[in-house]
Amino acid sequence: MEKRSWHSISPAATRTIGAEIWRLRGLTTVIALSGDLGAGKTELVKGLAQAAGYGGAVTSPTFTLCQEYPISEGILYHVDLYRLSGPEDFEGIGLWELLPPDGGVVLIEWAEKAAGCLPVDAIEVVLRNGTEPDDRWVEALFPGGGGSDG
Ligand SMILES: Nc1ncnc2c1ncn2[C@@H]1O[C@H](COP(=O)(O)OP(=O)(O)O)[C@@H](O)[C@H]1O
Ligand SMILES: [Mg+2]
Repeated sequence: MEKRSWHSISPAATRTIGAEIWRLRGLTTVIALSGDLGAGKTELVKGLAQAAGYGGAVTSPTFTLCQEYPISEGILYHVDLYRLSGPEDFEGIGLWELLPPDGGVVLIEWAEKAAGCLPVDAIEVVLRNGTEPDDRWVEALFPGGGGSDG
């Protein structure tokens, strides 16, 4: 387990952090984002998606639950669990069955709503609001040896 922390002072900086997390990802296929409302999860996904080679628009799939972005290594799934009540609800939607077996990469906003249901080797990213309006704190926990060789 390796921990990385960043202080962001702009949306662009948060997108750059997303790109860095993408480069540090290794073989991990699930990236779980949690933390404060408006802390920049979607902004971070924009950076991740761009680094993955997706050039289109990224918006929170709050109502559609899941959006698919084509990337060179398959599909990047952008999931937003905001509207779920919690893990009981997550079991019910059968997200893992919706995804093809070779899964691509899955980015999950509001991952705290799926606590206990995510793979143990998921990268866990927590975003917090700081004291200034554009202040954000980002912390990423990489499983196993990940994050050390990027
Ligand atoms: N340092 C920062 N990092 C990310 N977003 C920021 C930052 N400073 C201001 N913002 C603004 O905060 C909002 C973050 O929204 P969003 O990414 O949708 O958050 P979340 O998905 O976590 O609810 C955006 O309007 C963005 O422009
Ligand atoms: Mg969002």
